[in-house]
Amino acid sequence: MKKINMTEEYFLWQNKIKFSDTINIDKNKKIILKNKKSNSNKSNKNKEVGTMNKANKINNTNNNIEIKNEELKKIYLEVKECMKCEKLCRTRLNVVFGRGDENPDIVFVGEAPGADEDRLGFPFVGRAGKLLDKWIDELKINKYNFYIMNALKCRPPENRDPLPEEKINCRNFFVRQLEILNPKIICALGRHGFGNLIEFDLKTPFGKARNTVHYYKNKDKEVPVIATYHPAYVLRNQKEETKVISDFEFMLKELNNILENN
Ligand code: URA
Repeated sequence: MKKINMTEEYFLWQNKIKFSDTINIDKNKKIILKNKKSNSNKSNKNKEVGTMNKANKINNTNNNIEIKNEELKKIYLEVKECMKCEKLCRTRLNVVFGRGDENPDIVFVGEAPGADEDRLGFPFVGRAGKLLDKWIDELKINKYNFYIMNALKCRPPENRDPLPEEKINCRNFFVRQLEILNPKIICALGRHGFGNLIEFDLKTPFGKARNTVHYYKNKDKEVPVIATYHPAYVLRNQKEETKVISDFEFMLKELNNILENN
């Protein structure tokens, strides 16, 4: 049987991991999916979305996905070799590239990997990820194609905020990854994810960015961006959860308009 290397292994799974509780890694660094949710949703997806995704389906030829996969793999390999941030490249266990559908309707953009993400190599697989999963589940976001990534690919030590120079160092990977993914809408989770997409003074109260459609220039396209609170913030401020649910509903309304008019 053909032996596959770590990069192929990563890409084999990155588009199958829809929920954080599906992933585990054994001692040989083999990725194990535990929960049937990750595989079962795809089959129902087109049924549930009905005609909305017709345009999507026509564009989603396997060919297209394979090309995207190869292009993303190329960036992933560059990220793995990256030594631009002197501190982060020495302290990281893994780079955290992304997970989800490579032809996404929605891309969620977080801040930077935490300890669990650093250990497993995928974004939002810790406590914050579980809360994000819960929202995705409750709002049936899983019937759309979605992808999750961060502004930064490496974990800042002690979960400190990313430094401006670290965001600059990582920016080229971020921009190219989003270009290839070509989402219909972007959901920024928290101020750092948002600030990587839209010019925003980090001292401004982040709540001011909510309830508005912003636009990110992705190659030659203006992609709508919706801002909401980071799940880690909601874990500390549980009363804010209703605001996130309402932001997600706002995002889905926008997305449905886009899909219907395509
Ligand atoms: N917080 C983030 O912003 N990203 C992750 O991947 C995990 C926690």
